Amino acid sequence: MDNIFEEVMEEVKNAVREFRDSRELYEAKMRFLGRTGRLTALYKKIREIPAEERPSFGQKINALKEQIEARFAALEEELRQKELAEKLAGESVDVTMPGRRAFVGTLHPVTRVRNMLIDVFAGMGFEVFEGPEIETDYYNFTALNTPADHPARDMQDTFYVSGGFLLRTQTSAGQIRLMEHKKPPIKMLSPGRVFRSDDDATHSPMFHQMEGLVVDRHITLCDLQGMLDEFARRIFGSGSKTRLRPSYFPFTEPSVEVDVSCHACGGKGCPLCKGTGWIEVLGAGMVNRRVLENCGIDPDEYTGFAFGMGIERIAMLKYGINNIKLLTENDVRFLGQFRD
Ligand code: PHE
Repeated sequence: MDNIFEEVMEEVKNAVREFRDSRELYEAKMRFLGRTGRLTALYKKIREIPAEERPSFGQKINALKEQIEARFAALEEELRQKELAEKLAGESVDVTMPGRRAFVGTLHPVTRVRNMLIDVFAGMGFEVFEGPEIETDYYNFTALNTPADHPARDMQDTFYVSGGFLLRTQTSAGQIRLMEHKKPPIKMLSPGRVFRSDDDATHSPMFHQMEGLVVDRHITLCDLQGMLDEFARRIFGSGSKTRLRPSYFPFTEPSVEVDVSCHACGGKGCPLCKGTGWIEVLGAGMVNRRVLENCGIDPDEYTGFAFGMGIERIAMLKYGINNIKLLTENDVRFLGQFRD
């Protein structure tokens, strides 16, 4: 009868030799320790043996049961550790895998150039002042020495809105608003949207201008050119020069067109500057006495200069953009090219 215990232990050894997962291990365990398992059958045998042998037989079964339980507990723990290790290995992160690139936006070229311009002129002491986009005829034209019958009104095709209002055609309108409230010395920079009924590769019905205005005692055209030289060097490169050509604007006298030496060829002549070595970048001049008078500033005491440039035009020249429409199409393949 004794070797029955050894037999069962032997069976256990064989049974646990091969199991692939916790389910198979559980099934093996139940074959010995379950309600209909090997040990239950052994307990039933107690009734078949003589009464005096029963206690020691019972103790042996109990000892055997403990042994088997301990064996399975150890195996279960072993399996748990193994499965945990496998799970962790399966979930591990491959730190050598290339990451997914995050999409980082860029500033719009018009915004970039606007910021650069503000930077250049703020460094010279200019303050930023933004006037309204919807203007009255008075601020956009009349006060700028362009009364209703003035032929210079034809220089700018205007969008009129109801109630005597219009979409400003030039940031110059802001000059008047500022000078009505602030007396010299004035050094103001006025960036903003302007609108003209104009539409081709280099003109768009909405674009941005940057206006500059300086009014003080003893301001001359030389001061204007000095500041514009600095502007040209900062925006188009240190070798850039400017030249002034006579022009006409009703609100400045004398008026000039300002050219910058071509940054593409250095002035030798190339397709960008159409062989001339110079590129027209802005309009400017000494503030017309009439304009100062309109704002209650004495033109015998004070003089000033003003300049106005198209920000899109500066951006197109600086970055070699040949069609203004690219700036409003919002194509990220285009916009993404303007990074630091
Ligand atoms: N307002 C002019 C334009 O839009 C530019 C300009 C500004 C010229 C200031 C002279 C002085 O064309």
